Amino acid sequence: AAPHPRRRRGAFPQGAGRLDAVCGIVGAVCRGPAAPILLDGLKRLEYRGYDSAGVATLVDGKIERRRADGKLRRLAALLSERPLGGTVGIGHTRWATHGMPTARNAHPHTDGRVAVVHNGIVENFRALRNRLEAAGRRFETDTDTEVVVHLLSAGLERGLPPAEATAETLDALEGAFALAILFAGRGDLLIAARRGSPLAIGFGEGETYLGSDALALAPLTRRILYLEEGDRAILSRQGVEIRDAAGAPAERRIVETALSGAAIGKGNHRHFMHKEIHEQPTAIVDTLHSYLNPAEREVSMPLPFDPARIERLSISACGTSFYAGLVARYWFESVARLPVDIDIASEYRYRDPPPVAGSAGLFISQSGETADTLAAMRRFMASGAPALAVVNAPESTMAREASAALPTRAGPEIGVASTKAFTTQLAALACMALACARARGAAPAGVTSRLAGALLEIPARMAEALAHDAAAAAIADSLQHARSVLYMGRGASYPIALEGALKLKEISYIHAEAHAAGELKHGPIALIDDTVPVIVIAPTDAVFDKTASNVEEVAARGARLIVVSDPRGIERLGDMAAAWIPMPKIDPFAAPLLYALPVQLLAYRVALLKGADIDQPRNLAKAVTVE
Ligand code: G6P
Repeated sequence: AAPHPRRRRGAFPQGAGRLDAVCGIVGAVCRGPAAPILLDGLKRLEYRGYDSAGVATLVDGKIERRRADGKLRRLAALLSERPLGGTVGIGHTRWATHGMPTARNAHPHTDGRVAVVHNGIVENFRALRNRLEAAGRRFETDTDTEVVVHLLSAGLERGLPPAEATAETLDALEGAFALAILFAGRGDLLIAARRGSPLAIGFGEGETYLGSDALALAPLTRRILYLEEGDRAILSRQGVEIRDAAGAPAERRIVETALSGAAIGKGNHRHFMHKEIHEQPTAIVDTLHSYLNPAEREVSMPLPFDPARIERLSISACGTSFYAGLVARYWFESVARLPVDIDIASEYRYRDPPPVAGSAGLFISQSGETADTLAAMRRFMASGAPALAVVNAPESTMAREASAALPTRAGPEIGVASTKAFTTQLAALACMALACARARGAAPAGVTSRLAGALLEIPARMAEALAHDAAAAAIADSLQHARSVLYMGRGASYPIALEGALKLKEISYIHAEAHAAGELKHGPIALIDDTVPVIVIAPTDAVFDKTASNVEEVAARGARLIVVSDPRGIERLGDMAAAWIPMPKIDPFAAPLLYALPVQLLAYRVALLKGADIDQPRNLAKAVTVE
């Protein structure tokens, strides 16, 4: 056979783009030194990627830059070794989609004339690069971004002023992106452009800032302007001039952001993830109290449709938020008698389903910026039907564009693996299911009031469940060397099994998969031997006996069983189990919120034993703003 062609490290793979994607962008036109402000902004954007980082400023009119591969602290160390002067600059933290996250490929990209940072994808970069190279331009990196540098320079060389060179460049680009551009010799100028990826502008005293979100700018100013689709902005010390997609001058409203600039600490916890797991009882209280009156056990929330008049709810989301949607489907169907369609957002947006009259959309996202979920929402709204966004970031693009938004009150979630954002999504969705049940007359007031009572009990039961951290730690010891772990659950415990497997994969890098308990015998059971732990999520609910039978089936094949259940369930299944995590008894309606905790704790404890980078696992980003 022909030898497999070896790919040079960092070489440009033929035919496949090496594209820069989800990333954080900052910019500043300051009175004092810009670099510390840029670095601080990047720290707040590291959730968008941590493959490499860089900043560029103008020093005596010349572009100077510092770039480092890996986490932001490496750039910070470089900057303290070799500080960067200058009062105007741009910065970037990167999450790479293809190819190597090297320093050479780190942003900003420059040819000495302009420097560019970029979030998103230039889809036609191959054709542009071929054309530019044929015209004699030399490229230094494998990135799509570098074509922007050369297009801009070509315009400047032809004598175009910066704003016009930018307009011409933007016209040549296809794809979704946000850009910030620095021009040599122009110490008073930054140009930014938004097409698809978010950008916010902040106003200080004689200073102007740019960030991928308002959080990046929170310590600097509360006065924020969000660029709209297709906008470009010229930033100077005096302020900002905005043009819309057609190039016409545009007015955009300055809003007061409610985001806090305070740095978020870990408290006494070793990791943000551990802190956030333990914050869940409080976060659930905050979310429930936004929608549920504890005295009357009545739900009220601003829905952009009348639940009594809709015929179907269409849910889309990604990752953990998708699993929250899967749990909610059981609630909407069984309690509110509301038919549900649910799909992964990246599938939904290209699935081309025929429109169903009487549909309402529900889009779930912690960040409110996930590109696929946002695109799915926009696509759904194009039909004219109302869309509700359940988001944790109240000023996010999805919150702003949806017909209405239901904020979850998790507070900032820093750990890349989602924990409290997930359970607060569940809390908001459970309240919504009750609101729909009442409006549709699907359940008598006595029933919805009982279920509301079950929700109100969750924070106390969560606190009890968190006391079993030690049980999780003991079991983790037996999981840490597993090559593969299976999770199983039935009904609303099936998505919890999926979430458990996802958590384990994300932070401990152990292969894990989850199956509906009834489905194991159709294939996955072939994987089972005594080296494959099987984690069973089994509250005693209406389908418990069915799950118990499936547990018998895997136990008979020698599986090493770990059972998560309440006292009655453990009594039934305990004999077959190698270990168990006891859960307090709770109404089955509320069980998914409670059973999310042991699977989070297990994943955390395993990752801790393996010494993994728990808050910033390899290859992941907290918000994925590229499709
Ligand atoms: C990323 C995160 C996940 C998250 C998913 C959806 O992959 O690492 O934790 O569940 O995006 O994010 P969203 O912000 O839309 O909930």
